[in-house]
Amino acid sequence: MTGKKITIHDIKQAKKDHRKLVMVTAYDYPFGLMADEAGVDIVLVGDSLGMVVMGLEGTVGVTMEHMIHHIKAVVRGCKTPLVVGDMPFMSYNTSVREAIINAGRLMKEGGCDVVKLEGGVDFAPTIEAIVKAGIPVQGHIGLTPQTASALGGFKIQGKDALAAKRIVDDARALEDAGAFSMIIEAVPAPLGEVIAEAVNIPVIGIGAGPNVDGQVLVTHDMIGLFDKFVPKFVKQYTQIRPTIIDAMKAYKQEVINKTFPAWEHSFNMSDETLAELGKMIQK
Ligand code: KIV
Repeated sequence: MTGKKITIHDIKQAKKDHRKLVMVTAYDYPFGLMADEAGVDIVLVGDSLGMVVMGLEGTVGVTMEHMIHHIKAVVRGCKTPLVVGDMPFMSYNTSVREAIINAGRLMKEGGCDVVKLEGGVDFAPTIEAIVKAGIPVQGHIGLTPQTASALGGFKIQGKDALAAKRIVDDARALEDAGAFSMIIEAVPAPLGEVIAEAVNIPVIGIGAGPNVDGQVLVTHDMIGLFDKFVPKFVKQYTQIRPTIIDAMKAYKQEVINKTFPAWEHSFNMSDETLAELGKMIQK
């Protein structure tokens, strides 16, 4: 069941209406379909795919080609949610011109509705230029995984007043640059609330407490499909990994026992045809 396509206007309106926004990640067609059916507002094809789908240590190795490939698949499944394409590391960091070209590629070749990129004050001119080129941008501040090593690892951000003030400045810079919304990752809950109040565009939190305008989680974390590490801010709503492993083990056992495939999983051939075949292949 799909409804009317969600637009950036709807996303901005949600904040005015005090309606919480719901966002999840997806990296392929079946998960795009399931997110659509679950009725979420926004689906992010995140560069977290580097870790949860490709088995990399982080997001740095993800390329434009990887992103376009995965965005295309998700878009085919998502008729209603707004689809966000994540700009991978170094696709927007070298020049504003390259950032516009790559944002355009995610939309034109991938088919996403909007793009997301990491960074605050320093990336405001880039965001402004992409928005002026006609591409809606979602910002991402606080803990920015692509530059986590420069931030001292995957750590909570904005813990002291000065660091917190810098994140508020980042949020304001994103709004001024024309971003339609932003993600704020891994900050103290009171700072999440301060930021949501400081700007008029929706602030979607991941590890930013309850008092922001919406929440995003990496789907593979939330369903227990990826459990190499589970951040404190993740709630596991199910444990799908053991279910899948059990199914594979049961299949393995039945193949070994010769109980699969049974007749109901097999195609039949008439006795006459079989006899005719026997004659034809006789030596
Ligand atoms: O890539 C991603 O999945 C993200 C989320 C952590 C918001 O950026």
